[in-house]
Amino acid sequence: MENLAVNGKGHLTFNKIDTVLLARDFGTPLYVMDELTMRKECRDFKESIAKYYGGHGITAYASKAFCCVQMCRLIAEEGLGLDVSSIGEIHTALRAGCNPRKIYFHGNFKTDEEFAYALDNKVGRIEVDNLDELERLNVVACEKNVTADIMLRVKPGVDAHTHSFIKTGKNDSKFGFIIENGEALETVKKALEYENISLKTINCHIGSQIFDTEPFVHTAGIMLDFLAQIKAELGYEVPELNLGGGFGIKYVDGQEPMDVGECIESVSLRVKAKCAELGLAQPYIILEPGRKIVGDKGLTLYTVGCVKEIPDGDPKVIVDGGMTDNPRYALYQAEYEAIVANKADKPKDTIVSLCGRTCESGDMLGEKMPLQSAEAGDILAVLATGAYNYSMSSNYNRMMKPAVVFVNRNRATVVVKRETLDDLIRNDVV
Ligand code: LLP
Repeated sequence: MENLAVNGKGHLTFNKIDTVLLARDFGTPLYVMDELTMRKECRDFKESIAKYYGGHGITAYASKAFCCVQMCRLIAEEGLGLDVSSIGEIHTALRAGCNPRKIYFHGNFKTDEEFAYALDNKVGRIEVDNLDELERLNVVACEKNVTADIMLRVKPGVDAHTHSFIKTGKNDSKFGFIIENGEALETVKKALEYENISLKTINCHIGSQIFDTEPFVHTAGIMLDFLAQIKAELGYEVPELNLGGGFGIKYVDGQEPMDVGECIESVSLRVKAKCAELGLAQPYIILEPGRKIVGDKGLTLYTVGCVKEIPDGDPKVIVDGGMTDNPRYALYQAEYEAIVANKADKPKDTIVSLCGRTCESGDMLGEKMPLQSAEAGDILAVLATGAYNYSMSSNYNRMMKPAVVFVNRNRATVVVKRETLDDLIRNDVV
């Protein structure tokens, strides 16, 4: 992670702000995100598309990674588009003032209510994931006497090497239509026949936390072959190609994600070469990074509740959060680095299990983690929690969701308030 340092008191600082003071001022657990590096990452994507693909494309931030009004506002200010996957994310984006035309609405089951909401609010692209959706969307658009601009989700049949729960490009995935067996082409044919449907984009997403450029380049080739097949057999040139997200980040030592600029350069070269070879106009490109924009731009601060010695086992460091604010170890055995923020100048001389506080043995943030000797009352930082933490948090055990703070130089601003006891019973009928 960038912008981490240790100050004269031996405290961990993030963007020059003492994290121990952040914990004192805002309470724990606390999500802290660095606004400056998030903005820089947005610009890097934008500039790479400009440099290597002549600006004929857009980066649409995948808001499922971290979504709140202020985040959507930041994205709009940076000129990016937004990938959303529910009416809730659309609502948040609209509330933030995002341009609906730059919203890309994904998901493998969208309700009629969601279709209607997206059409009423002039959402730019609505993804069609299955035949049922194609038919239902056409009906809803017909009732409203409008045309739905769609993206058609396909499975390029690519096996990206990542955790099986987050890989999505293979033919047995639950998302989209198979190219290989003609299913996708058949659906394009149908889509072109529907009165109230306009096919703008073919899209895919091969998986998440991918470290290599190669699967992206390979996928681009497959997708362009498919666009050429559509042109040859149906006489229609699809103007846009959406290659999804999946750019990996470093969580722990030993992980080496590719450079995004180089990846976009390689993909652009392949797209241009393929288009020349196949006689296609270069499509407008859409990229949808989520994790890469926010993941290593955030950390979570906890207070250590106690340290339990275990016979023949690693000590258990128990914190005031856990799987309710970060379910990723429980779900994917995702690895993280932790630091005792008030002892950041000390060596990591213990190996611990980091445990959450809910009534689940599986409520852990990691095992075999090197850590400074910890004791009750210490402030503990878990790094690179900016993506898929807050957005996947829950109220299990009626835990209150933490606040989210953006830091920008010397300023810390609450962008999501900490939940209160009253929030927990807000929808309960009492
Ligand atoms: N586009 C589509 C259509 C997607 O389904 C996703 C993520 C993205 C873009 C953004 O992918 P990213 O750049 O963030 O890798 N909860 C899991 C990750 C699930 C990703 C789902 N789709 C995790 O915590 O690792």
